[in-house]
Amino acid sequence: MAKHPTTMEDSNRSSNPSIHALSDPARRVLLRGGTGAALGATLAPLAAALAGCAAPGAGVTAPPQLGFKGVEPGLGDRLVVPEGYVATVLAPWGEAVGVPGRMPAFKPDASNSAAEQALQMGMHHDGMEFFALSGSSSHGLLALNHEYTDDGLLHFGGMQPWTAEKVRKSQAAHGLSVIEVELAGDRWRMVRPSRHARRITMDTPFAVGGPAAGHALMKTAADPAGRLVLGTLNNCAASQTPWGTYLSGEENWAGYFSTSDKPDAHELRWGLRPKGFGYRWHEHDARFDTTRTPNEPNRFGWVVELDPHDPDSTPVKRTALGRAAHEGAWVAVTRDQRAVVYSGEDARFEYIYKFVSRDRIQPGGARANRELLDHGTLYVARFDADGRGRWLPLVQGQGPLTAAQGFADQGEVLIKARQASDLLGATKMDRPEWLAIDSRSGHVYCTLTNNSLRGEAGRPGVDAANPRANNSMGGIIRWHEDGDFDGLGFAWNHFVLAGDPANPRAEARGNIKGDLFGCPDGIAFDPRGLLWIQTDAHATQMYKGEFARIGNNQMLACDTASGEIRRFLTAPTHCEVTGLSFTPDARTVFINIQHPGETPSDRSDPAEPARYSNWPDYMPGGRPRSATVAIRRADGGPIGS
Ligand code: FEO
Ligand code: CA
Ligand code: CA
Repeated sequence: MAKHPTTMEDSNRSSNPSIHALSDPARRVLLRGGTGAALGATLAPLAAALAGCAAPGAGVTAPPQLGFKGVEPGLGDRLVVPEGYVATVLAPWGEAVGVPGRMPAFKPDASNSAAEQALQMGMHHDGMEFFALSGSSSHGLLALNHEYTDDGLLHFGGMQPWTAEKVRKSQAAHGLSVIEVELAGDRWRMVRPSRHARRITMDTPFAVGGPAAGHALMKTAADPAGRLVLGTLNNCAASQTPWGTYLSGEENWAGYFSTSDKPDAHELRWGLRPKGFGYRWHEHDARFDTTRTPNEPNRFGWVVELDPHDPDSTPVKRTALGRAAHEGAWVAVTRDQRAVVYSGEDARFEYIYKFVSRDRIQPGGARANRELLDHGTLYVARFDADGRGRWLPLVQGQGPLTAAQGFADQGEVLIKARQASDLLGATKMDRPEWLAIDSRSGHVYCTLTNNSLRGEAGRPGVDAANPRANNSMGGIIRWHEDGDFDGLGFAWNHFVLAGDPANPRAEARGNIKGDLFGCPDGIAFDPRGLLWIQTDAHATQMYKGEFARIGNNQMLACDTASGEIRRFLTAPTHCEVTGLSFTPDARTVFINIQHPGETPSDRSDPAEPARYSNWPDYMPGGRPRSATVAIRRADGGPIGS
């Protein structure tokens, strides 16, 4: 997402050391190949439809070779795909999602009401998944996140004056959407009306599952049981589970709350501050004023699970996976069919987690697995300098996680996962974003997008896993678990360090084999085994010389066998490329273009909403709109080869 001024900067000042010695960034730890057996027969039909969430491969097979002509670095306000490819924009912010009988038209001057916005696509699309209907690659549902709002763009007149109606509209523009889409000829379009169409906003009830459900720290005056939360916030990345549900991470939720002038230690550790990131919801909604509702922030920061196939289902906050500034969550499956959920915390000097379910995945879809993610063990990662790593259990009563240290029960460990991870000596990472599981080799890949504060005075210095001071370019780290995905030890290496090798500053030079990029964020394997990478450099970075030969944010494909990376797409001015999902036949990829025309301050000037971008409408007097894009080959062939 856009990096608001106080985002992710100061929360982790605890003293667990980044002790690891600086290693050669280019070194490669030898990782062995696949170890596991194929999925059990009972799950094979489920797994067959899913990419990137399977057990370790029975053997390593090479992914297909890259077969498109790479595009040049992007500079203009346009979306560029390779020769022979066609990109179709669908579902921009403000389009009615298609609830039958309730489809308000988008007003280009942003004068739609809050009630209308609650029936329209939210703002700033992010993580997204395609759910095939009846196994089809030409008809399905798209579930997607609306991460945050640019309130200068969202409202007629921007934030002046600031009213309760604008707060309600901003809240209605957050959350999730479920839309129905179909391939008509060679173009994708929304199916409207649709019985599947749904918006989830800050008014939507969420159940709370797992050990923190009903905990004293989860209770509020409006919810004395601590088991029902209204809304989900700052949903960033997403994934699809093998049992057919959608997982979405609540990322920079802290920015929506305003504290007293003197935040307490718990608030400080979670990045809560007076006035937050300037959303100003607290001025009209007491929920976001922690002096009036001190426990409300504890009810955010969870991975949420939604069954997109059932428009009447109640989504659930899965507390067993731990509280964090969750980028997202991704499922691997052990040989005995338990779920292993990897997640990272996109914040400077925060952590990587994995959850291992107690129970096995059952055939029967969402209903048969509705409590699967409520029972299991959560771990946090420590990356050691010798290329090995350990998963450290976040279990109350074990090691330092005792009542004397402030952890009365498992619910408190999960609500205070950062504090618990501090005590365990987990490794403070350079903003872990998406994870991707290579079902062929069993490797787990994780983007570390950047960390401009690494090595600053008073901050953690470099370590083996995070080897660059003022890390402006980021990279991709990967590991392989000992044995199966539930292994407690792993071997890791840097798959690639991003950045132009010609950069004058040594720490910004990368070792990319192929086309140049910086700040990797989205990452996923397609159904055929190509690795796709999306980037998110902030507008303020783009004007720096380090990006001169990298250009606008982009999407690239990687053949992990050779390591070659090739630029597939360049995106409009000041946007982020995200929301990566393929149809089962790998012949369509859906992406999201988020925040085209983002301003350096992250809030647009309502007098000049199209100052930097007018994508995708290019309408005179209009405004830029985040949107989903469907990309196909003109000849209908598989993407990328
Ligand atoms: Fe929402 Fe971590 O990007
Ligand atoms: Ca990002
Ligand atoms: Ca992201």
